[in-house]
Amino acid sequence: DRSLRELAAERGLTVGAMIGPDSLRTESDHRRVLATEFDAVTPGSPLKMGPLRPSPDTYDFGDADTIVDFALANDMSVRGHTLVWHQQQPEWFETWNHSDERVREFLRDHIYTVAGRYRKKIDTWDVVNEAVADDDSLRETMWYDAMGEDYIANAFRWADEVTHADLYYNDYGGEAVNEKSDAIYDLLADLLERDVPIDGVGLQLHALFDRPDPESIAENIERFQDLGLDVEITEMDVDFYEHDAPDDPLELQADYYREITEVCLETGCDGMTVAGVNDATSWLRYYENFPELFIGDPLLFDDWYEPKPAYEAVVETL
Ligand code: XIL
Repeated sequence: DRSLRELAAERGLTVGAMIGPDSLRTESDHRRVLATEFDAVTPGSPLKMGPLRPSPDTYDFGDADTIVDFALANDMSVRGHTLVWHQQQPEWFETWNHSDERVREFLRDHIYTVAGRYRKKIDTWDVVNEAVADDDSLRETMWYDAMGEDYIANAFRWADEVTHADLYYNDYGGEAVNEKSDAIYDLLADLLERDVPIDGVGLQLHALFDRPDPESIAENIERFQDLGLDVEITEMDVDFYEHDAPDDPLELQADYYREITEVCLETGCDGMTVAGVNDATSWLRYYENFPELFIGDPLLFDDWYEPKPAYEAVVETL
């Protein structure tokens, strides 16, 4: 049988997984399934500013390198995630005055150092993550406090100065045509109008609270493509609240993975990345900030690395 990555390659689609370094280090099954079935990886946390910056003057690239080196050794591409975000930031930021000029200098140096260090290894970056708030205005992060809305254009320009990677804006909740994706669309159209170097938009697609309508996702992807942008699904997972789980969660999940794969193929989206290799490593198993409990089985492989109906559905569609 041919693997997911072989089938996807024939259709011009990248299939990625967002992973952490631990299971890669300790589990041979994780390494095997990752390298056999996927042709791209996204480090889930190691390239975020908090993990990467133990102190203002130091970097800790160890976890990121574990993932990047594995990827390159197995002929996979790497999606860098992420240069500018408002979460998983260093704790020592708390003492910083946001209006201080050093915030801008810090961000510029950070982008130069990180995107520059991986210029030969990372070919796609989520430069800015989740800049649009749930009320569709720009989120008031420390970057916004320090630089106003220009922080976004600055981040893309700084990244463009040190890498040839494709530069993406990445967000959740704007997968279908809705108010959030309208806001993202307006933001990106304005950046392009001003010649800001932005190549694509990442749609996270955490299908946890709902499963956005596939037809509407296709329409949304196409309008971004009409702006000249590449589009990727970047963090897909499909799960259900424990308290109102359907009788057949694995079948419903498989149906939705199938529909999204069809949308990707029809629209010519550039890639589809899932938020982990197997259920046991899903962030839903340990992330405590969600108000309600999920089943925690959102991915294509189960706890024991056996392919699930969702995997079969994607493979059949390809
Ligand atoms: C998650 C990671 O998977 C977890 O390991 C971490 O504890 C929290 O962040 N949107 C994003 C991702 O862009 O970076 C987040 O990843 C999930 C939500």
